[in-house]
Amino acid sequence: MCGIVGYVGKQQVTPLLLEGLSKLEYRGYDSAGVAVMTEHGIEVKKSKGRLSILSDMLDGGDALKGNMGIGHTRWATHGEPSDTNSHPHLSQSGKFAVVHNGIIENYMKLRTYLTQKGFTFLSETDTEVIAHLVEYYYEGDIVDTVIKVMNKVEGSYALGILCADQPDSFVAVRKESPLIVGLGEGENFIASDIPAILSHTRKVYFLENNEIVMLTADQVKVFNPDKEEVTKSVYTVDWDIHAAEKGGYEHFMFKEIMEQPRAIADTVKPRIKDGTIVLDDISLSDEYLKNIQKIYIVACGSAYHVGVVGKYVIEEMTRIPVEVSVASEFRYANPIVNERTLVVVISQSGETADTIAAMREAKRLGGRTFAIVNAVGSAIAREADDVLYTWAGPEIAVATTKAYSTQLNAIYMLSLYVAQRLSLIEPVKLAAYIKALEELPEKIEKLLENKGEIQYIASKYYNSKSVFFLGRSLDYAVALEGSLKLKEISYIHSEAYAAGELKHGTIALIEEGTVVVALCTVKSLFDKMLSNIKEVKARGAVVIAIAEEGHTEIEHEADHVIYVPKSNPLVMPSEVVVPLQLFSYYVSSLKGLDIDKPRNLAKSVTVE
Ligand code: F6R
Repeated sequence: MCGIVGYVGKQQVTPLLLEGLSKLEYRGYDSAGVAVMTEHGIEVKKSKGRLSILSDMLDGGDALKGNMGIGHTRWATHGEPSDTNSHPHLSQSGKFAVVHNGIIENYMKLRTYLTQKGFTFLSETDTEVIAHLVEYYYEGDIVDTVIKVMNKVEGSYALGILCADQPDSFVAVRKESPLIVGLGEGENFIASDIPAILSHTRKVYFLENNEIVMLTADQVKVFNPDKEEVTKSVYTVDWDIHAAEKGGYEHFMFKEIMEQPRAIADTVKPRIKDGTIVLDDISLSDEYLKNIQKIYIVACGSAYHVGVVGKYVIEEMTRIPVEVSVASEFRYANPIVNERTLVVVISQSGETADTIAAMREAKRLGGRTFAIVNAVGSAIAREADDVLYTWAGPEIAVATTKAYSTQLNAIYMLSLYVAQRLSLIEPVKLAAYIKALEELPEKIEKLLENKGEIQYIASKYYNSKSVFFLGRSLDYAVALEGSLKLKEISYIHSEAYAAGELKHGTIALIEEGTVVVALCTVKSLFDKMLSNIKEVKARGAVVIAIAEEGHTEIEHEADHVIYVPKSNPLVMPSEVVVPLQLFSYYVSSLKGLDIDKPRNLAKSVTVE
């Protein structure tokens, strides 16, 4: 949420900032701005709307000359999207410019205090208090000033700060919001995320909470809040820059859907050795595993939906009770966690504020945390007791696809791993599951080849007002994801229901022409799903069914049938989700919507 980029070096900074912001626009896109150290001092240009508006305003970057600057792309929290509320914000005298990602929780108190001291506020943002506070405390040393500001503000922040007194250096600091430092030759960067700087350098520092960084073209110094210099280790990014680009596809979402076979193979194959699941970096002892009483899965949005699948799969394989909790509720539900509770947190970004908070609460209560994360070096990855990375590569589209799919596979592997370590699974069964995992990429490839059929179905129903997704057991878990995908990128009202539950009230909403997507891949429940399809058909629904190959009897009941290849039942969610992703994608595309950046949303929800 909100993207920050900063640069100091020898190149013209404005085009670099615009390029960096274009890679961060997925984090927020309601306004954008830059502050550049020009020969006249700090100059700010900012505008409501997409980055392209700012870019036009800046002549693609030619309009502001300088070799140091900071930029921002915003997802509004305090104050509507407007030119004035856009970042950067200037201090009263214009001596400081600030960009901010996060929320200053005590900003009202600080605003009142600063107003009494004679500061005038131009915007409704929480960020402007930082700009004025910096000016209020500044006595010539910017690092000292930042430390004083840190002691006053509560909340989360990643900040980039320019000071007019310092034409060759700038500072940045983070607490609970992500910020990395990019290390170049004769140039250095800050950014909210790696893609923003990857075309310039692969060497980065991941800043820890409360670390302050001072950057010049030739030097980067990191300090702790006691102003002691900190030695950081350099992390070298090993993924290809093209991984974060569209590569000829019209949308990131489509590219990421198509990348799923590769992403799953990268996540799974290196962890299968000699017919067993090998999780090299995981340090769960036999003693601990034997004593687990309960597993919690905690996550948000689509990652939570992975957890719902996870509950079925882990309980089936290990018989350890699993509770799935939405991360934003976990802390407030007085959760029952102790040293015999394994808390699995799932997150693509590794920076989701609610998930981080839930993970910390779980730790505080004595639980052991196990993270399934995509973003290397992210807060969750750093803080969890164990990390299982999903090797999906950078996911740029706001609506997740390949990260969800790799998270599912991470959950399958974790279940198998625990079952195998506790000798709960017969070798023949283990071999069958592993074979199913190995075969998934090829099966998904096959499903993706069928995209024309799904595009055709989408073309018939993209004007629907309401779409229901029904399923039972694992299909219900996937229905949740199918429904979220559709609503977030097509703005069509949609609900997911456990098929048996529909007749307890919601069936009242089914009328002539209502679209119902019926997931019917759980063999033991197939006949029950057929009955549910009949029930909605009798009330006028149009039914799009998803069934396993060979179950052709469904063609008598449904209006359209999409077949998925036969597979081991426990990995079936990985197949079923693919047509649902494609359906949402095509519906959104036919409606002419901004698929990669749906309204009101942002990737990486770093505020609570
Ligand atoms: C939906 C979507 C979100 C995320 C959720 C958690 O398509 O992408 O629901 O799944 O915001 O994000 P992470 O996984 O980064 O914690």
